[in-house]
Amino acid sequence: MSGAQPSARLSPALTVVVNAARKAGRRLLRDFGEVENLQVSSKGPGDFVSQADLRAEETLREELRRARPGFAFLMEESGESPETDWEWRWVVDPLDGTTNFLHGIPHWAISVGIERRTGPTTSEIMAGVIYNPASDELFWAEKGRGAFLNDKRLRVSGRRDMNAALFATGIPFAKVRQRAEFSTTLARLMPQVAGVRRFGSAALDLAWVAAGRYEGYWELGLNRWDMAAGMIMVKEAGGYVTAPSEDGDPYASGDVVAGNPHLHGKLREAVVEGISFVAGRRAEAAAGSDG
Ligand code: IPD
Ligand code: CA
Ligand code: CA
Repeated sequence: MSGAQPSARLSPALTVVVNAARKAGRRLLRDFGEVENLQVSSKGPGDFVSQADLRAEETLREELRRARPGFAFLMEESGESPETDWEWRWVVDPLDGTTNFLHGIPHWAISVGIERRTGPTTSEIMAGVIYNPASDELFWAEKGRGAFLNDKRLRVSGRRDMNAALFATGIPFAKVRQRAEFSTTLARLMPQVAGVRRFGSAALDLAWVAAGRYEGYWELGLNRWDMAAGMIMVKEAGGYVTAPSEDGDPYASGDVVAGNPHLHGKLREAVVEGISFVAGRRAEAAAGSDG
C-alpha cells in the first residue's frame, strides 16, 4: 500500500497536498539513505538545516504553486511569500524532526496546513497533512470531515486516568526561553503519569495524539509550521488544542497543550503550574534585587 492514495475521498486541495508530500517524501527518503553526505548548517544553537530540508521545501513549493497559483506560503526555510492580501495559504514544515533525520532516526515528517483568512487579523486552519515517509504513515484531516491515518478514521484516546496516561513533549533547546517552566512542569507531571516521551517531531506528536497513541502533548515556543496541520488533526479526532492560558491562542503564541477531552485539563494545569511557579520565582528575585 506504499504510496497509495487514501480511498476516503480527499478534497481537491488535500489531493494536491498529498501528491506534493509524497513527492517530497521520496526525495527525503533518498537523502535519508545517504545522510552522511548531506551538507548541514546551523541556524542557531541546537537548530540545524540540511540540504534535505531545503530540497524538500523546494519540491513542495513547486508542486503546491503549480496546482494553486493564487495561494500564499508560510514556509519554515523561506518564510512568508510577499502577498499580504491572501485568502488561502500553505503553512509548510518540509522536514519536521531534522535532528532525528540527521542522526538516522526514522521519526520525521512533512507537515502542510491549509490556512484560510477569516478577518484582518484572524485565520483558521481548514485542513492538514502530516506524512512520515519512513513508515508510510499519512495523517490527514479536514475541517468537519474528521482525521485519518491512511484510510483509518482517527479518534483521540479514551483514557481518563492520569496514572495510565502517556504524554509527549518537546524539550526546549537553546533558542526557546521557557526552559525552567518546562522542567517545573515535567517534575510535577512525572510522578502522576505512566510516561513522558520526547520523540523529536512536534507534527508527529500532534498526529499521534489524534491517533490515540498519546493522551496528550505540550510544548512551549513552537512555530506555526510545526503545528498548523497537527492542530486540526487533533481537533478533528475529537481532542482539544489550547494555549496554557484560558484565553490564549496556541497558533499565535506557539505554546500548545493538546489532549483527549478527559485529560487535557489536567495536562494544562501542570503546564500552567510550571509557568506560574517560574513567574513567581522571577518576581521574587526582581523584588529582592530592587530592595
Ligand atoms: C522541531 C521538532 C521538535 C520540536 C522543536 C521543533 P524541526 O522542528 O518539531 O520536536 O521540539 O520545537 O523546532 O526543527 O525539526 O523542524
Ligand atoms: Ca518543525
Ligand atoms: Ca523543519
